Amino acid sequence: MRKKNIELYKCPLTDDNLDIDEIVEEIDNKIISGILRSRQTGKRYFISNGVVDFITPEQEIKGAAFARKYYSEIAKTYDENVHITFELYNENESDIRNRMIDLLELKPNYKVLEVSAGTGKDSEIIASRLNKDGGLWLLDISPDMLSFNVERLKNVGVPTEHVVASACSIPFNDNTFDALYCFAGVGHFPDLPKGLKEMARVVKPGGKVVFCEKNVPEWLRDTEYGKICINNNPMFADPVPLKHIPVEARNVGVRWINGNVHYVFDYTVDIEEPKGNFDMEIPGPRGGTFNTRYYGKLEGVSVETKKLAIEAQKYSGKSMTKWLDEIIKREAEEIIRNGTK
Ligand SMILES: C[S@@+](CC[C@H](N)C(=O)[O-])C[C@H]1O[C@@H](n2cnc3c(N)ncnc32)[C@H](O)[C@@H]1O
Repeated sequence: MRKKNIELYKCPLTDDNLDIDEIVEEIDNKIISGILRSRQTGKRYFISNGVVDFITPEQEIKGAAFARKYYSEIAKTYDENVHITFELYNENESDIRNRMIDLLELKPNYKVLEVSAGTGKDSEIIASRLNKDGGLWLLDISPDMLSFNVERLKNVGVPTEHVVASACSIPFNDNTFDALYCFAGVGHFPDLPKGLKEMARVVKPGGKVVFCEKNVPEWLRDTEYGKICINNNPMFADPVPLKHIPVEARNVGVRWINGNVHYVFDYTVDIEEPKGNFDMEIPGPRGGTFNTRYYGKLEGVSVETKKLAIEAQKYSGKSMTKWLDEIIKREAEEIIRNGTK
């Protein structure tokens, strides 16, 4: 990792800032071997072959261990076999990967994080769209998968940095990246809501998040095609994580690609939940505003009183909200003035 980038990182467990504790080997201001240390807790993270390893025993317990073991076992043969993921559906791997990366709307000087980057088949496409003023960070839980990624990207013209970490505890500060990409990773996250939240957290407001995972959509569930996919891998039946899309997401798009059995979400990150113009008066007999209708609710009245009120409101020449608001206010103020309870 580049020494100057230390300020982008944080301890994935405590959110503490990190310091460079020890440099064993350094080339061109890049730490090849050394140690990072959490400023407050003193927790240490080791750098070897230029890659920082942020996986701690705590995270292994929370589900990282299985993915690490599985992908470490298949890392050597992954590239030979990954084309199957596309050819099974008569799709072209390069077309599909480029279409997903198009959704990132990259500019050459962007700082991009790829989560679950694996051996780097998408990483090299992303790198080809950036220049030396940009930067590409590659995160994966498996050091073995990532070692192929390091090799693949070693001659690209954009600064790269590789980190071993869990997507559910991303070791970067808030608002660090201009864009974030994740293909075929989220289905493995031990805590999917947390992982999706983390991915939004590290992206700057205005930046884009794109992620894709296998899924047979509802309309194909009863077809032979859908059933064969689910039979092969039950992950195809996992729910679409609509309810875990962070509240900061805007202009959310979702489409099914790659044989119509992989969803791709893309959205722009904002700073909080949306804000509406909810004090705007709504014309018509009901009247009021979105806010008065939501915050101004009182107890219910008898059915008879309601009927009377509807009748009376017609004669009042006011909307129901305005008429009720006025009479309740008038009566309440008078009672309070008289001190009567
Ligand atoms: C199916 S591979 C996809 C690799 C790559 N994106 C590609 O397009 O070929 C899934 C990757 O997710 C990684 N992974 C699994 N669980 C993870 C987690 N909790 N955090 C980060 N990466 C994870 C695996 O190590 C593996 O490299």
